[in-house]
Amino acid sequence: MAKKPESVAQPQYHVEYREIQPYGTLKQLPLALEDNARKQSIEILNQVLADTMTLRDMYKKHHWQMSGATFYQLHLLLDEHFKIQSALVDTIAERIMALGGISIAMPHDVVELTKIPRPPKGREDVPSQLARLLEAHEIVLRESHEGADAADESGDDGTNDLLVSDVIRANEPQVWFIAEHLAETQLVRPDRQG
Ligand SMILES: [Fe+2]
Repeated sequence: MAKKPESVAQPQYHVEYREIQPYGTLKQLPLALEDNARKQSIEILNQVLADTMTLRDMYKKHHWQMSGATFYQLHLLLDEHFKIQSALVDTIAERIMALGGISIAMPHDVVELTKIPRPPKGREDVPSQLARLLEAHEIVLRESHEGADAADESGDDGTNDLLVSDVIRANEPQVWFIAEHLAETQLVRPDRQG
């Protein structure tokens, strides 16, 4: 029997939630890559993803909680870095899906996986904020270098390229920009004569 028009228009939003691919499983795709290579890359990329999401959120925390004479400059700079890290999150997550895996997504799962130490809920001074960002960048960079080597050896050129061309190349200048703020150089020498 045909449905009445008004029942067709009614959205069916009371549904039983159904998982269609368990986490950790691999879909078959015609990618010309060994299953083991894809499995290894997915594991590496999920680690880089968890740490990139944590770094992204740390940038927003410090963007909001900035203080001091350089507040405006740093407030803006940290938001620029946040945007670049946000774009990286999407690139990494979609690479994992393209490889037939499942990218982590929710904060609960990020917390379980990330290697970046948890900052306090409270507000820290500027040197602490910047040092924390540099520590997080180094964690991401180290695992990206290791991951790029592993992907190169397994023949996963796409993952190698993503880790080098996207993740490493975006993180390195951010380290430079943040680290330069921690040098004690001043515009005017305090000991100048006359
Ligand atoms: Fe903002």
